[in-house]
Amino acid sequence: MSKFVVANWKMNKNNDEARAFCKVFLKQINKRTNNFCICPPHTCLATVSECLRGVGMVGAQNVYFATKGAFTGEISPEMIKSCGANYCIIGHSERRNLFGETDEFVAKKLKFATENGLKVIFCVGEHEDEHTKILSVLKHQLKALNGADLTNVVLAYEPIWAIGTGKVATIKDIKKAHGIILDCVQKEFNIKIPCLYGGSVNSCNAKEILALEEVAGVLVGGASLDPVEFAKLVNLAK
Ligand code: PGA
Repeated sequence: MSKFVVANWKMNKNNDEARAFCKVFLKQINKRTNNFCICPPHTCLATVSECLRGVGMVGAQNVYFATKGAFTGEISPEMIKSCGANYCIIGHSERRNLFGETDEFVAKKLKFATENGLKVIFCVGEHEDEHTKILSVLKHQLKALNGADLTNVVLAYEPIWAIGTGKVATIKDIKKAHGIILDCVQKEFNIKIPCLYGGSVNSCNAKEILALEEVAGVLVGGASLDPVEFAKLVNLAK
């Protein structure tokens, strides 16, 4: 089964740059590839959807738990879908740490997004100094799954110290964390949910990570900004 490769562009690329990316990227990927999702800034969602012309998926990097109303700066599942996207990232450590999103807040988003037709890439992961209590940290973060439509959820294990640092978790650590996550989800919710790995993934280190049975794919930040590099990752996951 092919693995899933997700691009998180974060706050990078305007519409012209997004178009240029798609043009190169589409030429580089193997034909009939569908195993990827690109999450651009909201301002490029429609552009990326149009450029990909139904190849792969498009996702937002954030979503709010209401359909519409006085929520300045927020965006609803309906708005995301109207741009041709059907995924969104929730619980990313940058949202939690830089924008103060709490476990309760991300749980509300997760529930609302999955109930309103979005597939959610839900991120969990520990800080560097939490390494010894990784079990309790991950278990606690996974409580947010309670009440959400879990058939619409893909998890992403992203150790915070590995994001954007060039420090990839070891294969042993990835296996251990994914084991904890899959086990916890199975026990608590009696369901199998795919779990991606994220944190300094690139086309050199991805092969070994993608080969792990516990790993359903990768969530890629920095290395997803270059179309040739991202295409290499997508082709590797085939
Ligand atoms: P990175 O980011 O690949 O640049 O480490 C991953 C992420 O934040 O999802």
